[in-house]
This record gives sequence, C-alpha cells and structure tokens, in this order.
Amino acid sequence: MLVLGIETSCDETSCALLQGDGRILSNVVSSQVEVHRPFGGVVPEIASRKHMEWIIPVLKEALQRAGCTLEDVEGVAVTQGPGLVGSLLIGIGVARAIAYAKGLPIVGVNHLAGHIASVYLDDPSFKPPFVALVASGGHTALYHVVEEDRISLLGQTRDDAAGEAFDKVAKLLGLDYPGGPAIERASRGGDPSAVRFPRGLGRKEGLEFSFSGLKTAVVTYLKKGALLPLEPQRLSNVAASFQEAVVDVLVEKSLKAARKCKVKKIAVTGGVACNGRLRQKLGLRAEEEGFEVRFPTPILCTDNAAMIARAGLKALEKGEGKSPGPMEARSRWQLGT
Ligand code: KG4
Ligand code: ZN
Repeated sequence: MLVLGIETSCDETSCALLQGDGRILSNVVSSQVEVHRPFGGVVPEIASRKHMEWIIPVLKEALQRAGCTLEDVEGVAVTQGPGLVGSLLIGIGVARAIAYAKGLPIVGVNHLAGHIASVYLDDPSFKPPFVALVASGGHTALYHVVEEDRISLLGQTRDDAAGEAFDKVAKLLGLDYPGGPAIERASRGGDPSAVRFPRGLGRKEGLEFSFSGLKTAVVTYLKKGALLPLEPQRLSNVAASFQEAVVDVLVEKSLKAARKCKVKKIAVTGGVACNGRLRQKLGLRAEEEGFEVRFPTPILCTDNAAMIARAGLKALEKGEGKSPGPMEARSRWQLGT
C-alpha cells in the first residue's frame, strides 16, 4: 500500500510517501525555524500561515521525488493532534480534500505515535516490546510499547518539555533558537560538573519529569552576580552543566522504565534525541545494564511526515478510514492509557 503522510502540527510542513514494506520514497520537510527565530519560539498565527503557503509546494515536491502522482496513492495518514490547532487544520484540510477527491481512506494519527513509529522506519527489524522515550519541544514522555498498536503511558512531564527547557535556557544565555543545538554547540569544551544544577524529580520519584525547576535554577545562578554576556569559558561551563542535568534525568528515567517493564530495548526519539551527549551517555549506561538502545537518524527524530505515514499504515492496511466522518484537530490528545 502506498501511503501519503502529512504533518503540520507545529512548525514543520512535511509530506512523505511511504510503501507498505516501510520503504520511504520521499520525506520532504520544510522547516519554519528561520521565520520564528526572531521571536525565540514558535508563533502560532505565523506557523499556520506558513503551513498554508508551503503545504502544496511540499506535497508536489514529495510526489515528484517519489516519482508518483496522487493517482498512485492508496491511503492518507495525517497528524490529528496533539499540536497547534491552526497548524493542524491546514494538514487535515489538505488530507481530507485529497481523500475525498480521490476516494481514498484517511486516518488521523497521534503525533506521539508518529515519533515512536520513526524507530520502525529507521530499522524495520526493530520490534516491540520496548520502552520509548519521546523528548521534543512540546512533549517529554515514557511509553511501554507492548505491540505497535498497544502503547501505555508510563509517565510524562508535569511542566516543561525537555526541548522547551533547552529553548528557554538558550534564550537566558543569549544563545540562538532553537536552543537544543545551540546549547550542545556551546557545551563543547565546557565542564559539565562546573555547576550542580538540580535533577528534577530525581531518582526517587516515579517516571514523571519536571524541568521548570532546572530553568529557575539557571535564572537564579545568573542573578547571583554572573555578568551577561558570560565570558566564553563560563558560558560553555553553564551550558554543559545544564545539558548534563537534562541528560541525567532522561537517562536514569529511561533505564528505570525499562527495568520496571522488564524489556530489553529502549528507543529514543523527538528533537532532543538528536543530542550527542544524550546518545553517548544513555548508550554507555544502557550497555552497563544490558539494554539495547536505539536512536533513529536525526531527520527521523525531528518532526516529519514519514513517521506519520508509518504510524497510520497498520490502520489503513486493516481497512480503517474508508468512510471517514469529520476530523477535528485535537490540541491535546494523550497517547496510551
Ligand atoms: O521533535 P521536534 O522537531 O518538534 C517537536 O515536536 O517539538 O523537537 C524540537 C525540539 C526543540 O525544543 C529543540 O531545541 C530540540 O528539539 N532539539 C535539541 C537538539 N536538537 C533539537 N535538544 C537538544 N539537543 C539537540 N541537539
Ligand atoms: Zn514532534
């Protein structure tokens, strides 16, 4: 089955064509990072306007790169939520128009299920059961993936997402947007033990996360007489120490979840999964404890439509979405029970 995937939940406009065997024929992602950079974060009204401008050119490019036309498409999978309603509506509108015009089945996909499905795209032989950590700008959560379509939520953040913490702290330090890559760059040559920032809801608590206290700790540290802009070595030390605090929490909670669920495998995805220190430290700690860890290739970790197509594939193959009713955009939509 040839599936068209469409993703517009936040600030990436993306269309992809995916074959039933999991082969990606095209995965076009148009990022709005440059548009939102001057604001230091995503501006919802601008995001939806940009999706409107870009969705058709991105769709055409995806079809062209895959060497096919809409006539070849056999099913449509679109992100239905969670995300920015104005942005989601653009993708949903286009997906429904195509499905209606071509008489195709259409399924609404949970964006977080999409992030988890990126692991199967990266390695089709990777199969449940496993623990999945999704860490992005909007979400930070741990899931027990029992089967592809049997997912339970183990714990999520009580406040900020991990990527959001990177973005906010980068702003405090006068670094670029998005903050994750900027902090990772600034950390190079820094001492991760220079400042002992708190590990929110540390080892003792369950599988929930909290990153707002860490952000406050950076504010407090900067208020205690650190002159801005920080001199370069001190900036590197603060960035590395902050990054280490986030990474430590993500690593320890992922291991704890894997122990609790008695699984052997951990998959990490979402934008924060691009972080080199997280990859390195979780890799080492997991090896010590006998777990296998997977990080999809970076383009599949950040928002993209191939992961949405992959997450919708099974439902389409089962024959779902043949007579779709209305599809509302869901700003909040918890994945798993
Ligand atoms: O998955 P994603 O593209 O979009 C959302 O669904 O949110 O994730 C974007 C987030 C941003 O907060 C960004 O700062 C973070 O992922 N990020 C990183 C890195 N690259 C992107 N965080 C830490 N280290 C990185 N290298
Ligand atoms: Zn995402």
